[in-house]
Amino acid sequence: MENIYLPKLAVIKEIIQETPDTKTVRITINNNECIDFLPGQFGEFSFIGEGESTFGFSSSPLRKEFLEFSFRTSGRATSGMNGLNPGDMIGFRGPYGNYFDTAKMKGKNLVFIGGGIGMAPVKSILEYCIDERSNYGKITVLYGARTVSDLMYKGVMEEWKKALDTNVVITVDPSGETKDWTGRVGFVPTVLEQLPLKGDNAVAVVCGPLIMIKFVLKSLDKMGFDKENIITTLENRMKCGLGKCGRCNVGSVYVCKDGPVFTAKELEALPNDF
Ligand SMILES: Cc1cc2nc3c(=O)[nH]c(=O)nc-3n(C[C@H](O)[C@H](O)[C@H](O)COP(=O)(O)OP(=O)(O)OC[C@H]3O[C@@H](n4cnc5c(N)ncnc54)[C@H](O)[C@@H]3O)c2cc1C
Ligand code: FES
Repeated sequence: MENIYLPKLAVIKEIIQETPDTKTVRITINNNECIDFLPGQFGEFSFIGEGESTFGFSSSPLRKEFLEFSFRTSGRATSGMNGLNPGDMIGFRGPYGNYFDTAKMKGKNLVFIGGGIGMAPVKSILEYCIDERSNYGKITVLYGARTVSDLMYKGVMEEWKKALDTNVVITVDPSGETKDWTGRVGFVPTVLEQLPLKGDNAVAVVCGPLIMIKFVLKSLDKMGFDKENIITTLENRMKCGLGKCGRCNVGSVYVCKDGPVFTAKELEALPNDF
């Protein structure tokens, strides 16, 4: 019988040091293959011998040269991963979980809102929509980090800015700016409310720290976004990723299997401990 917990071996092709404590890693599985997944899904990535960590995919699934994830060094597995180099192997299980409903997004204006490392799953769905640009209306990207040195994806932001009819707004928290900073200064929900956006015919994707998500949901509500058209991801601690261990539950909902992607309307129906 197949062991569902057995990781596949993946080889690291490239590592990008995004900020002092975050890295983006590009891998291929088995023999230079790239598995199929959808934006919003996640995997269990293991630093061999130290354990697994859960990361969302940060690349577009339409770009087949590699599979990409970004991580912040926080504990045992991520500290181990922090020491790896191109050519080294890691373990991978997945893809798991549900995904962003791109059919629902077709023909709509899209607003992508990311905070900190939460920009990783946003990058995946954003780049997917850029790859299929003609299917969507106007695109707005709002990305915030605590300080200028905490901003990830500086290398690919230029590509987002060049996409057709796409407005990219980058902000850092008050006091997080440098002398030569030309972007915005302000918390993500504050800057969001200053943008000329309307909720009609629009879908918003929001990922980041829970506190940011809670305030952004309030702002989007004020701006007229329908709760069914606001989509977010939860990052509850996980172990199996497969709906077996009960580690990730919020009430009767398994975040690993029923999520991690939820609409604001679905979040409202969850007990208030997510
Ligand atoms: C669906 C999903 C997607 C995720 N995507 C990403 C991603 O793209 N990039 C990324 O850096 N992280 C992501 N995370 C969080 C990431 O899984 C944890 O930070 C990571 O597993 C820590 O691994 P570790 O072994 O190094 O830390 P551990 O030794 O397990 O923990 C180190 C510290 O982090 C805390 N911690 C661990 N897991 C979580 C969690 N889920 N939420 C809050 N605190 C936690 C612990 O309590 C401890 O204080 C995601 C989590 C989920 C559930
Ligand atoms: S992580 Fe095991 S049930 Fe969700």
